[in-house]
Amino acid sequence: MRIAVTGREGQVARSLRATAPSGIEVIAIGRPELDLANPASVLPALTAAQPDVIVSAAAYTAVDKAESEPESAFAVNAAGAGAVSEAAAKLGIPVIHLSTDYVFSGEKLAPYVEADPTGPISVYGSTKLEGELRVAAGNPDHVILRTAWVYSPFGANFVKTMLRLAETRNELRVVADQQGCPTAALDIAEATLAIAARLKADADIALRGTFHLTGTGEASWADFATEIFAQSRALGGNSAAVTPITTAEYPTPARRPANSRLSGDKLAATYGIRLPGWKSSTEIAVRAILKNAI
Ligand SMILES: NC(=O)c1ccc[n+]([C@@H]2O[C@H](COP(=O)([O-])OP(=O)(O)OC[C@H]3O[C@@H](n4cnc5c(N)ncnc54)[C@H](OP(=O)(O)O)[C@@H]3O)[C@@H](O)[C@H]2O)c1
Repeated sequence: MRIAVTGREGQVARSLRATAPSGIEVIAIGRPELDLANPASVLPALTAAQPDVIVSAAAYTAVDKAESEPESAFAVNAAGAGAVSEAAAKLGIPVIHLSTDYVFSGEKLAPYVEADPTGPISVYGSTKLEGELRVAAGNPDHVILRTAWVYSPFGANFVKTMLRLAETRNELRVVADQQGCPTAALDIAEATLAIAARLKADADIALRGTFHLTGTGEASWADFATEIFAQSRALGGNSAAVTPITTAEYPTPARRPANSRLSGDKLAATYGIRLPGWKSSTEIAVRAILKNAI
């Protein structure tokens, strides 16, 4: 099986390349050949890769910057995502599109299920929601995977930021009133490869649609930071004391949902896939990051 993934150096794209077993070829396609801000570039770039399945992982992911650049975020996350889905339809193949917990408002008190009403509270969330709609309209043969709080040994993410800050600080103030599901990009990649294989082999409509895909369990950012430092300390790396603070004490341009927790029950019931507990995957990422840093 040959998979084309959009975005060459993104966390999910790199994790797919790192995870794919022999027999699955992952071709990462990004700028300049494929520029989501230039929809005309999308079909030729994906056609040239001759894929069996497309994974749409590239996105405008700068959540705060999107507040002041709504047009750029919309072009990439909505129009660009739609162009990828339409290209998959023209090639007669499935598309697996990555979306986000930020399509929800965060007001629900329990984990969100796929059927819950959306209600983004940021520009990024709004553009990703419009992307979902365009992906669904562009190709009936689609899976939309909403994930959250993604980290990996690659690129920029919360785990790497915490470990970097601990090099120079003994104490860090971290938000404790946002709840979510930390998710390893390597776990996303493994699940995505399994879903791609099922989609290629099985036309069952029940396998298509929107699914939540996050690490099992839940945490606040402060819980997550505390666990990162516990793992790092145990492995001989840097750590810092975590002081819990409120969102109001850490103002950002974009609002974030207070509750970002997503239920993985639909994916488990449909595909038999449930991601590992977030703590065990955090340990794997911290170990890999520390190893590269030494
Ligand atoms: N990170 C999270 O916490 C998180 C949470 C929920 C959902 N998601 C979703 O999960 C998916 C994967 O996220 P990630 O963390 O892997 O993202 P990432 O590491 O930020 O990578 C984003 C990728 O998109 C590419 N890209 C940006 N603009 C582009 C354009 N105009 N044309 C082509 N490529 C472009 C970037 O290319 P360059 O390398 O050239 O910059 C980069 O490779 C995204 O759809 C994101 O919205 C992420």
